[in-house]
Amino acid sequence: MSRSVGESTWSIPLADVDVDERVEHAVHEAVVSGWWSMGPRVADFERAFADFVGTRHAFAVGSGTAALHLALLSIGCSAGDEVVLPSLNFVAAANCIAHTGATPVFCDVKGTHDLNLDPEDLERAITPRTKALLVLHYAGYPCDLGAVLELAERHGLDVIEDAAHAPGAEWNGRRCGAVGRVGCFSFFSNKNLAVGEGGMVVTDDDEVAETIRLLRSHGMTSLTWDRHRGHASSYDVVATGFNYRFDELRAAIGLVELERLLERNAKRRALADAYRDALAAIDGVVVPFEGAQSSAYHIQVALLPPGVERDAVRAELAARRIQTSFHYPPIHGFTRYRAASSRPLPQTDEAAERLVTLPLYPHMRVEQVNEVVDALADVLAAQHVSAPG
Ligand SMILES: Cc1ncc(COP(=O)(O)O)c(C=O)c1O
Repeated sequence: MSRSVGESTWSIPLADVDVDERVEHAVHEAVVSGWWSMGPRVADFERAFADFVGTRHAFAVGSGTAALHLALLSIGCSAGDEVVLPSLNFVAAANCIAHTGATPVFCDVKGTHDLNLDPEDLERAITPRTKALLVLHYAGYPCDLGAVLELAERHGLDVIEDAAHAPGAEWNGRRCGAVGRVGCFSFFSNKNLAVGEGGMVVTDDDEVAETIRLLRSHGMTSLTWDRHRGHASSYDVVATGFNYRFDELRAAIGLVELERLLERNAKRRALADAYRDALAAIDGVVVPFEGAQSSAYHIQVALLPPGVERDAVRAELAARRIQTSFHYPPIHGFTRYRAASSRPLPQTDEAAERLVTLPLYPHMRVEQVNEVVDALADVLAAQHVSAPG
């Protein structure tokens, strides 16, 4: 099989998809079936995913962002509401909150040892206008859902889980995404379950499910697939919906990838353990989430020693053809959200100065982990020598 995209740029990329004949065959079957939009494979994928996370309903959608948007609308989030979420996050959640007319309110993370939301700061961010808590399981590590659920109960709020990083991770014996009122997943190419572009919304709540079903496809009461099968001949429009639908080609990939998810998460775990062991030898580097019980090990982050120029380190690693990233520039620092954000977020600010994301994907080899860590140690030693004083 020929694979060329990106191969010449990086010796060790940040993330990588594993293409094989099973995936090729599944897509081929979907193509030759002659039905490409939403149909039986999407229905199978939704059923299999609902069973996997342990919810009654799952709706495949065009992206994780669409999943978040539908989740917020399905709980009735609208103008005048506030939704609290961690700022150390991908911007999609904040944008989706803003699209409903509500205001995102940012909370802090626990600290460099645990980059998930800090429940105490989350509580301080709650006001009489708060409608929901939109929690993230950063890097695949479940956030403190016990504290979140207790706060939600006490203040009468809904919990939406952004489980984009955490398919397969567990909290208290339950899969992430299935604990809050609604859960959202992304199947973007760098995710643990990758189909290209795609997402899933899951819920146990029948009313929420019905709203998601309608809004996903223009607020229409039947789908093209229903009409094709003779299950409906017309439709009504009962809500202001979108085209957030999924398709058969990507569902075909999703069905294959879902079967492999836990095995691949286990491979990620072994690599994350190797990173933790190797990085322990570098002075001042912090690897968060020590001792975590469960994770989907979506990304491998580390905090560089205080005062180190992260961007210079990343540039040096790039010169050695090792791709890195930074998850995330905090949302409260972006031009769009800066003015609206007045809460101090000291832990987020400190983490954001020091964070770097290192390569991690299931078919990475332990020797490559060691290569990355050796290169990092080398670059940090050189920076230390050249630092004034
Ligand atoms: C935490 C988080 N939430 C939401 C999203 C949005 O997902 P998508 O890119 O599928 O729209 C992402 C994707 O990068 C993400 O990492």
